[in-house]
Amino acid sequence: MSEPIKFEHVKIEKVEEGNYAVLSIIRPDKLNALQNKTLYEIAKALESVEVDTSVRCVVLRGTKDFTKKRAFSAGADLSSRGDRGIPLDMDNIRHRGHAMFLRHKYYDLIEEFPKPLIAAVDGYALGGGLELVLVCDIVIASKRSQFGFPEIKRGIFPGNGGTQRMIRHLGKMRVNRMVYFGEHFTAQQMDEWGFISFLVDDDQFEDFVHEKASWLGNAATNALYVIKKCIQYGTQVPLNVGLQFEHWGYALNTTSKDAFEGVRAFNEKRPPKFEGK
Ligand code: COA
Repeated sequence: MSEPIKFEHVKIEKVEEGNYAVLSIIRPDKLNALQNKTLYEIAKALESVEVDTSVRCVVLRGTKDFTKKRAFSAGADLSSRGDRGIPLDMDNIRHRGHAMFLRHKYYDLIEEFPKPLIAAVDGYALGGGLELVLVCDIVIASKRSQFGFPEIKRGIFPGNGGTQRMIRHLGKMRVNRMVYFGEHFTAQQMDEWGFISFLVDDDQFEDFVHEKASWLGNAATNALYVIKKCIQYGTQVPLNVGLQFEHWGYALNTTSKDAFEGVRAFNEKRPPKFEGK
C-alpha cells in the first residue's frame, strides 16, 4: 500500500499489486452517513486517480474499521439536518435548491469516473448509500448486507437519483414497493431481482473483492472505458444511436496496445499481459 491522500470523510489507498485503489467512507460512528462534504470528497478522491495509470479500477466501500454496525452507507446524514422548522422563504428555497443541485452534481461526477467502479457492499446500503451503489458499475455484496430506500419513513424521498436510476434497473412496481414503504431488502432478494453482480458469503467477501478488483486492474483498460461509456450512454438513446457508440468506441479501442496484445496472446497460446495502454 502507498501513502494515502488525506481527506476528512474518506480515504483512498492504492493496492499496487492489483493496479486498483480502495476508496473508503470513514464515518463509522454514523454508519458512513453522507454529507455534501462526503460526496464532494468521493468525487475529488476519484479525480485524484483519474489520470493515474497505476490505478485501473476503484473499489468504493464503507470503512473496514467499523465501530458500531457494518455499513456501506446508511444514507444522508440525518444528524446534520439542522434546518427543520426554518420557514420556507425564498432565500431558504434557493439555498435548499442549490444544495440539492450540488448533490446531483457529485453523484453525476462519480458516475462519470472513466474506470470501473466497484461498489463493495458489506452491511447497510440505504437511501443515499444505495444511490451511491447506483452510480457504480459492479456490485459485490456480502450475504449479510441490506438494501433499501427508507426515506419515506423520514418524510422525504430518495432524491439523489434514486427514483430515476433505480427504475432503470428494476421494474416500476418493485421500485414503488421500495420507495413507498421504505422496507429493507436482503442481499439475496436484491440478487434475485438482478441488482447484484456478485453475491458472496460473508467470510469470502474481502478476498473476493480483491480478486475482482485485481482482475479489472489487470484487464484491458481502454476496452473497459469504451464498454462503460457504451452501456452508460448508449442505453439512454435509440438503438441506432447507441450502436454508434459501439461503432466509434470499437474503432477507438482498436488503436490501443492492449487490443493488439489480447489477440496476439491468443494466437501465441499464452495469457495476455495487458498494460492498460
Ligand atoms: N445519519 C446519521 N447517523 C446515523 C444514520 C444516518 N443516516 N444512520 C445511522 N446513524 C447512527 C445512529 O444515529 C447511531 O448513532 P448513536 O450510536 O450515536 O446513537 C449509529 O449510527 C448506529 O445506528 P443504530 O440506529 O443504533 O443502529 P441499528 O442497527 O439499530 O439501525 C439503521 C441501523 C441503519 C437501520 C438505522 O440506524 C437507520 O434506520 N438509520 C437511518 C437510515 C435512513 O433513514 N437513511 C436515509 C436517510 S434520508
